Amino acid sequence: MIDLGTRLGPLKLKTPFMAASGTFGFGEEFASLMDLRDLGAIVINGLTLMPRKGNPPPRIVETPAGMLNAIGLQNPGLDVFLSRELPRLQKSQVKLIANIAGDTEEEYVILARELCTAGDVLIAIELNVSCPNVQRGGIFFGTTPSTLSSLVEKVRRVCTLPLIVKLTPNVTDITEIARAAEDGGADILSLVNTFQGMVIDTVSRRPFLGNKIGGLSGPAMRPLAVRLVYETYASVEIPLIGMGGIEALDDALQFFMAGAAAVAIGSASFSDPLTILRLTGELKNYLQRMNLPSLEGIIGVAHG
Ligand SMILES: Cc1cc2nc3c(=O)[nH]c(=O)nc-3n(C[C@H](O)[C@H](O)[C@H](O)COP(=O)(O)O)c2cc1C
Repeated sequence: MIDLGTRLGPLKLKTPFMAASGTFGFGEEFASLMDLRDLGAIVINGLTLMPRKGNPPPRIVETPAGMLNAIGLQNPGLDVFLSRELPRLQKSQVKLIANIAGDTEEEYVILARELCTAGDVLIAIELNVSCPNVQRGGIFFGTTPSTLSSLVEKVRRVCTLPLIVKLTPNVTDITEIARAAEDGGADILSLVNTFQGMVIDTVSRRPFLGNKIGGLSGPAMRPLAVRLVYETYASVEIPLIGMGGIEALDDALQFFMAGAAAVAIGSASFSDPLTILRLTGELKNYLQRMNLPSLEGIIGVAHG
């Protein structure tokens, strides 16, 4: 018997494959294609206290082996999420992780407090301190160790659910940021968010995206993300969720072997919405072939 379950500190998932924030909405568009309960979890679109319209278009551009996005946290805000989206999701019994972002510490604290008591469909809170596409907040909190540990500490005090901190790759040394999040009380780290990039439209001679700068995701970033997971695994005690350009089982295995106990799939769901389910089946076959009863046998093995 193969056990596909994975344990991330206080969080137990049925499979190690999750949908990455910003790429699966609140799950509704995918519900007709699959049973959402077969996913390890869905990390829902970034939520802020007040509704946000997001950035001016264009917001997405394709790049070699990836894409650049500058959505800018478009979302309906906390109140609409609680009154309109959550009751519907509650019925579907999906495992949801709320991804939250704020301009101030206070906003993060209010969001975490409200969401932690919102209902048992929410199984964890992910602090987005790594959004590269907003003017204030977001990445600001994720690039300075002292600022990050202070924020995590404050959220920790009100957060009764497992607390995940999502790290940005746009720093010189991710390990000091990771340790700051751990010191502040994070249960789990997820990494990484997108890499800041730019595409210039050579006809108009201006940056292509309305926001000028965007975040690079997809296979182009995979080796960069695997390296960051590998280094972070060696620097902290808490479990990791890896992501960046995962499309095939071999990609996911690289993250597991680097030290991730679960992985998230983002951009690949745009081209094939069934990617996560395909990978789940392929992982089961792989473990069977390798005579491994569970994923535990490969997490972090690349460290020797
Ligand atoms: C269109 C788009 C929107 C995203 N929105 C969010 C977001 O709201 N919050 C967040 O933490 N990450 C967001 N991300 C980052 C992804 O969750 C993920 O970290 C990144 O895309 C790398 O994974 P991938 O290469 O599999 O896409 C977004 C990514 C994309 C492509």
